[in-house]
Amino acid sequence: MTIFSGGSFGKNSRHNQPEIVAVLDVGTSKIACFIGHLEEDAGVRIIGAGFHASAGLKAGVVVDMDAAEFTIRHAVAKAEKAAGFAISSVYVNVSTRSLKSHHISVETKFSSAEVADRDLKRVVDTALTEFAEPEKAILHALPLNWTLDGERGIRDPRGMFGSKLGVDMHFVTANVGVLRNLAHCIERCHLRIAGMVASPYAAGDAVLVDDELDLGVTLIDMGAGITTTAVFRDRALVFSDAIGVGGKNVTSDIARGLTTPWEAAERIKAIYGSALESPTDNSQMVPCPPMGAQDELHEESLSVLTGIVRSRTEETFEILRDRFAAAGIGSFAGRRIVLTGGAAQLSGAVQLAEYIFGKRVRVGQPHGLLGLPDTMSGPDFAVATGLIKHILNNKPEAITGPPDLSGKRIRKRHYAGGNVMRSLKWFKDNF
Ligand SMILES: Nc1ncnc2c1ncn2[C@@H]1O[C@H](COP(=O)(O)OP(=O)(O)OP(=O)(O)O)[C@@H](O)[C@H]1O
Ligand SMILES: [Mg+2]
Repeated sequence: MTIFSGGSFGKNSRHNQPEIVAVLDVGTSKIACFIGHLEEDAGVRIIGAGFHASAGLKAGVVVDMDAAEFTIRHAVAKAEKAAGFAISSVYVNVSTRSLKSHHISVETKFSSAEVADRDLKRVVDTALTEFAEPEKAILHALPLNWTLDGERGIRDPRGMFGSKLGVDMHFVTANVGVLRNLAHCIERCHLRIAGMVASPYAAGDAVLVDDELDLGVTLIDMGAGITTTAVFRDRALVFSDAIGVGGKNVTSDIARGLTTPWEAAERIKAIYGSALESPTDNSQMVPCPPMGAQDELHEESLSVLTGIVRSRTEETFEILRDRFAAAGIGSFAGRRIVLTGGAAQLSGAVQLAEYIFGKRVRVGQPHGLLGLPDTMSGPDFAVATGLIKHILNNKPEAITGPPDLSGKRIRKRHYAGGNVMRSLKWFKDNF
């Protein structure tokens, strides 16, 4: 098997071949690897894809290095086999409850009359230095809005006149320790990390349509161990957050509530589970396999199951709703919510989300990839799909390459208040 690599990963311009990109979605329940390239006039084509059930991960975080390495290797090997060559580096998603948004606004003086590229770079650099927090690695640094002599809402200040240039920056960060473990695990599979992308940011690229991105939309990726969110407005990522609750918690609640093994509970959830009550629930019975060999199969009313499923799902949505409110993005986030992730397939999840958030809700089916097998085309593959589109469509960012995981950065300025408070003030001040 040949190893596909080059200066920057997969670039093989000497042979006039398209840039090959490989991505890895490291999830709590499955690990997916997609290998693809941009096909002229057609779009992103997948030339190899594979997935494998996860082990050694909890809430998106590596908790057993050997087990996680083993499953990553398997997922990658499947994709490599389908592509017919080996890969040497990957872009990887980040799902951790430490995923957070920070907003800061900075202003610098510039000497020349017209704003030039170097002035933009200088003000962004100032923001990057001011932000520096030792235990946080910056995954995304996105200029949301430019100001010129205090004038707000400037899309592109280059070529304009003034004396003070300002920028409102959005940083998406995660804890350095978590990312180091993830990176180490992937490197043990002999893969270099080309970059890291926050999972809900990637999922947005897979499922959102232009109108949603313009008017404001909230993406909620409902995984097995973690639920991550991303708010988009004016085509930019303006807020991201995560909570360590997912489909696995629903399954555990069912296993406990119906006294049945975990695997049986997982099956019961997919077949009978719903977040919405129905008038016939009381008359329908759910067969529950026994915990041990001595016990016998028993039955429980469907209304008991629905109650269990609903209460966990409701609680998850309520936590998110409260987080959005605390961050001050309630109305700013538009009138639509799009759900992705395997747990978004839960019957009644859309209706319950509509009720709790008071917005239009839909399940996001990933779109826009050529050659992807049907088995990997569902909402649980939105992150992998979005990752490869995100990389190949070259989303502009203020920083490129893998995040700095040295943790050596010195805190230069201490901001009063936590992240959420800072966001609240930022949204109030800026919009
Ligand atoms: N039809 C269904 N109804 C309810 N839940 C479902 C259904 N299908 C899958 N799920 C749940 O989706 C979850 C897996 O989703 P997904 O593959 O997006 O997770 P992951 O990416 O591996 O995990 P994470 O993102 O949390 O690290 C599991 O908890 C599973 O029970
Ligand atoms: Mg996931």
